Order: sequence, then structure tokens, then C-alpha cells
Amino acid sequence: MCGIVGYCGERDAASILVEGLKRMEYRGYDSSGISVGFDNKLTVIKKKGKISNLQAALPSKIPGTYGIGHTRWATHGEVTDLNAHPHSDSSGKITIVHNGIIENYITLRKKLSENGVKLLTETDSEVIAHLVANFYDGDLERAVKEALKHLEGTYGIVAIHADEPGRMVGARNGSPLVLGLGEDEMFLASDVTAMMSYTKQVVYLEDGDIVTVDKNGFKTTDIRDNERDKTVSTVGWDIGEIEKEGYPTFMEKEIFEQPQSILRGMSGRLDIDQGTAKLGGLNMSSKDLRLVNRVIILAAGTSYYSAMVCSYLLEKIARIPCSAELSSEIRYKNPIVDPNTLYFVVSQSGETADSLYAMRELRRKGATVLGICNVVGSTIPRESDGGVYIHSGPEIAVASTKAFTSQLTAMYLFSLIMGRMRDMSMSQGKAFVDAMDGLPAQIETVLSQNAHIKTVAEKYSDCTSFFYLGRGLTYPIALEGALKLKEISYIHAEGYSAGELKHGPIALINEVTPSVFIVPKDSLREKIISNMKEVKARKGPIIAIAVEGDEDVAGIADDVIFVPEAHELMYPFLMVVPLQLFAYHTAVALGRNVDQPRNLAKSVTVE
Ligand code: F6R
Repeated sequence: MCGIVGYCGERDAASILVEGLKRMEYRGYDSSGISVGFDNKLTVIKKKGKISNLQAALPSKIPGTYGIGHTRWATHGEVTDLNAHPHSDSSGKITIVHNGIIENYITLRKKLSENGVKLLTETDSEVIAHLVANFYDGDLERAVKEALKHLEGTYGIVAIHADEPGRMVGARNGSPLVLGLGEDEMFLASDVTAMMSYTKQVVYLEDGDIVTVDKNGFKTTDIRDNERDKTVSTVGWDIGEIEKEGYPTFMEKEIFEQPQSILRGMSGRLDIDQGTAKLGGLNMSSKDLRLVNRVIILAAGTSYYSAMVCSYLLEKIARIPCSAELSSEIRYKNPIVDPNTLYFVVSQSGETADSLYAMRELRRKGATVLGICNVVGSTIPRESDGGVYIHSGPEIAVASTKAFTSQLTAMYLFSLIMGRMRDMSMSQGKAFVDAMDGLPAQIETVLSQNAHIKTVAEKYSDCTSFFYLGRGLTYPIALEGALKLKEISYIHAEGYSAGELKHGPIALINEVTPSVFIVPKDSLREKIISNMKEVKARKGPIIAIAVEGDEDVAGIADDVIFVPEAHELMYPFLMVVPLQLFAYHTAVALGRNVDQPRNLAKSVTVE
């Protein structure tokens, strides 16, 4: 969603801010702006639409070596130039950028208006600039702290003042803010990608931190002026990972990275000799794990579908009751927390508001909650009781692909550990380890069919509605395949358990509504083949994802995409990849903006 970048140093601030904003484009936004300080004046330029609109509005040179920038994803107030950030106080001496939501903004607006302040925008954020101005007495840090005392809600904020050149004041409460340490220059951003061209040395700020920064250093305190110690971390990936490196889109690049990202997620974690796995970050002994008698996995969107796959898997191989729950639902269910239930929260970004708030609610009730996340230093891993980083590398395309298979990898490893402690023999464990080890090469084989998948996708790209059908472990894969198609091609698609077909949806089958059947070689194969025949009898076109050599399926389907034969529990990995490519090529054929689909944000930081 919204992105913040701030810079103070010796270089041209405007170009560094615009570059930072472009790096964060993937998060989703609808307007952008910058404020640059020079000669005791701030120049503010903001524009609705793409950053290219902002660039077009910038004069050829904006002098100034400090400033702030923002990409806005509208929540309060329409998408207009005026509502875009940065917001200014009435004097124009102070500007702020804000991520999050100020819940008491209506009361604050009313009070400010009563005191004669003219509010120019419809946003919740503008009040912050006026409040800071209200408390300003020559010290920006002091004024920000006083203003914060009046704010209710969530925020990541950066403020600058024209009379304090080269200084930024940042504050964090519920919205990420990272400090970047360069040589004679400093950065503040909501996302490390914004500063990755300049530094890999970062400090992840925590809720309650207020940071005052100039080019020579920083000071972190809380609202009562107590110093807060910070540790400097080094970002563990390179700038190349957030560049397209020859691919036309990030999504295609990320789909093709999956053999490596899965390998990274397994690396050092498989125990070949014992037929099990090791996950250091769980912070739980074998004895603790043995006491777990139920597992609940919370997540949203694509992460929820990976959680669903693993709920099936864990029950199957470890014989522990396990369910996947939508984060947005569990939080308001007043969940019953049993001390022997282990909770996981799965989140690529580690910042999804629904998942974060659900986790906090469960921990408040005494639950042990572990995180399965990608973004290192994000809020969910920092607030959880332990967990696993999936190490898929930065995922820039809004539609999640490689994070999905890396989440599966992490949860497969956990399921293997639990399975080996309970129901699985050494030889079954070894076969599972072998099968996981073989996944990267098998996914390469699936990817080598890209051209064929493209042809199939183009053939069906004028259809307006699709069904995706799977069963058991691949039922969530059907849901994920349908989600991918709707997100990036805007075609209506529904995922169903194939067993449900006759309970209603079959009424919609006709000559122009294709069904995508996911047919692994497992105990449910025959049943899915029967469902395929039922669709065929009603003249429904069929695209099948099937196992190499499955002539029965090939004989019924109109088009088949084959995956290599594998251990029956590995098909979710192998069968989701063709669906990602199918959605991708359909969207490209329709001319969609694949990396930044309409209305979507990469990290959904509001409820
Ligand atoms: C779909 C997608 C979303 C996210 C969901 C949760 O392609 O990306 O559905 O999966 O918003 O996000 P995280 O995993 O960051 O919690």
C-alpha cells in the first residue's frame, strides 16, 4: 500500500526520492508526491496517477539535499492531487508523509478548524502537519512528540521543517519504518527497497520509536525522551533481486525463480540421514512440539491457500488436527485458545493488517503464535513467538507466486518434523525428503513448457468465466489458480472442490465456460476423471493439469499441461506453476498491467 521515503545527505534529494518511490511502485498506489527543502523553503509537488505524472510535473532542477516522498493508496478521500502526500501545515514550513490510519482524525479536524486552521484535503493524514505546527517552537522533534500524544491509530510518519535543514523526524506505531545508514547520508523508508541502491545497512524501527536523523547520524527515543538502543542489520539480498534482469515483468521473473527460491527455503533444513527436517527458529523443543495436539494456521489471500494445503498435509502425515483460518475472520470470532494448540500466521509481507491483528489477539489470549514470513524484520516475525523465514527473496509483482511455493516449502518441512515425531516411519521420512529434494529440477521441467502454456492461455483468453477444480491437497491449488487469474486478467474465475461440482456449480457449465481440472496421480484421480466426464457431457471445454503419460485425462480434456510424475504429496508445487503461467499469459494476451493490477496493493496494511 502507501510508501514512504525520506532522504538527508549531500546529493540531489529530488532524484533520490523519485527513485525510491519508483522502487516501491510494486506496493500499489494511486498518487505520489515529494517535498524538498532548500534555502529555508520546502517545494512540494504531488500528482495523482502514476509516478510518471509526478516526474512530468517536476521542474528540471529542484535544489535541495533533504526531503520526503510518498506513494498514496487512497483510504480517506478521493484520488486527487490535493489528497496526495506530502501534507503541509498552513505556513508551508512543515511537511509530513504518513502511512496508516488516524482513527480520531474527525475530532482532530474539528478542533483544528475551531482554532482557525484551514484544512485543504479530505485525508486523515493532513491533521498531523497542523498538529506538529501547533506545537512547533523551534524544535521539530519536540513538536512531533507532542503531536503524537494526540493521535489515535496507526502510523509511520516522517516530518521535515524548512527551518531545520537536513533533518528528518520519523515515528512508528503499527506501520513499518526503516532507517538506512549511508556514508554522509541517511534514509527513512517504509520499505528497504526504496534505499537499496544506496545502502544495505539498516535499522528496523519498532512501535513507539521516534527517530531524529541528519546526514551524520541518528538518535532514537520514545515519546518520554528515553533513549532506545537499536541494532544495525545488513539486508541479506542484492539490488539485482529487485530488478527485472531481462524479464518483461517481475511476475514472469518470479515464476521462473521458483526452482532457486524453493531450494533456498530448504537449504540446510533437510536432514537426509534421519528423514526429517530442522527449523531452528521455531523456538520449541521436541518435547514442546510433542505436546501440541492441534495446529491452526492463519493467513489471507494466496497465503491462506498455502495454509490450506498444509492443513491437509499435516493431518495426513502427522495425524494432528489442523485447520487453516482466514485472519480477517478469526480475529472477530473471539477465538477459543487452547494451551496445546499451536498457531501459525503465514504472511509474505509480514505486515498484512488482518493477520497481524489476529496474531496480536491470539497472543493476548496466551496462544503461542509462530510466523512464516518472507520479509525479514517485518512486524509479524518480530512480534511472534518464533517462526520460519521462507527466504524466497523480494517478491515485487503484486500477484504472489514464488512466495506461495516457498511458504509451502516451509510448512512441508514443519509437517515432516511433526510427522516424523508421530506417524511417519524413517523410510517414509526419507522418501519425503528425497521428493522435496527433487522439486527444483521437476519445477524446471514444468517451466520448460512455458511456450505450450502460453498457446493454451491465448486460446482461451476471450472467455469471460472459468472454473478451477481440484480435490484434497490440490483443492487449494484450484482456489489459488482461480485467484491468480482474477487478480491479473480481471476474468471471473471460481475455484471449487471437484466433489462439489454436482452440488450446484454444474448448472453453469456450457460451451463457453472452461473448467481447469487439476488431476494428480493420487487416490482421488478416478473421482476427478468422473467429474471431467460430467463436464464434457455438458459440452464444457476442459483444460487439464495432469501427470506425464496420463492418457485417460488427455483423452477427455481439450488441452492438457503435463507435469512430471512425483511423490503424491508434491503435486501442489508442480501443479500450481502451470496455473501461474496460465494466468500470466492470459493477462499478457489481454494487455493487462501484470505487475500492478488495478485496485490491488502488495501489502494490505489496513483492515
Ligand atoms: C495474491 C496476493 C494476496 C496476498 C494477501 C496476503 O496474489 O498476493 O492475496 O497473498 O494479501 O498477503 P501476505 O502474504 O503478505 O500476508
